Amino acid sequence: MTKSYAIPFEELLPMPMEEFLDEYKGKKYFIARSEEPRFANHFSWRELEIYLNGDGRNGHKRMPQLQIVNMEGKGGRYCHKKARRKVELKAIHGAWWRGCSFILTLSEFLNETLWTQCEEFERYYGIGQANLYCSSKADADCFPIHADGTDNFLFHVSGKVRWFIYNEFQHECKPQEATLKQVIDLDDGDLLYLPKKLYHKVQTLSPRISISFHFNESPDWVKGRPQKRMPWLDYTSGIEEEVQRVLKNSS
Ligand SMILES: [Fe+2]
Repeated sequence: MTKSYAIPFEELLPMPMEEFLDEYKGKKYFIARSEEPRFANHFSWRELEIYLNGDGRNGHKRMPQLQIVNMEGKGGRYCHKKARRKVELKAIHGAWWRGCSFILTLSEFLNETLWTQCEEFERYYGIGQANLYCSSKADADCFPIHADGTDNFLFHVSGKVRWFIYNEFQHECKPQEATLKQVIDLDDGDLLYLPKKLYHKVQTLSPRISISFHFNESPDWVKGRPQKRMPWLDYTSGIEEEVQRVLKNSS
């Protein structure tokens, strides 16, 4: 019984793999639209709610991955793990409904679909990670124009996001000098590939969940990190059936 709904890398591409590797990877962005909400099983609003309700319960810090955009109203990001003065769950809840975007970094282990989706990309990339970007409403606080140091595959799980994609890469100019190339609205099931260092920013047009899968270029790109993804360990295979069998026998 599989618990993963990961989509093969080749199926995500609107062009043959060779063409992607030769002409797009590290150079050109592309958009692959879908009529279906094909990422609906990657992460749900319910899973987000369960995660966000965990922190501070019985005094335990249970949100190692959470970062909040513009938590203090002064721009920047609040990192819940590193913050000297950690905010309480009530303040996190307030920030959510005020419109701060939440980032759950390193979320590839939150379910098997995210884990195996990473594995799919790692057939062609080094070790990577899944960052979840979640917002409660339109015009939520997001990052200003910036560029990322890695290739990014952006899955639009739920809601509408407006992307501003710029002509320049990071080494070509400062972010404020970048010139706009395209504005495009993406929603459920759409995929955007952004090559590393290309300037971009987003605006939310509704509540949304998006996932950024991003990767090191090769397994030895970062020293001291694992060279290979450890396998997802199957702790529950067959257990449901066993529970049902025991229940049946005892009734
Ligand atoms: Fe980014």
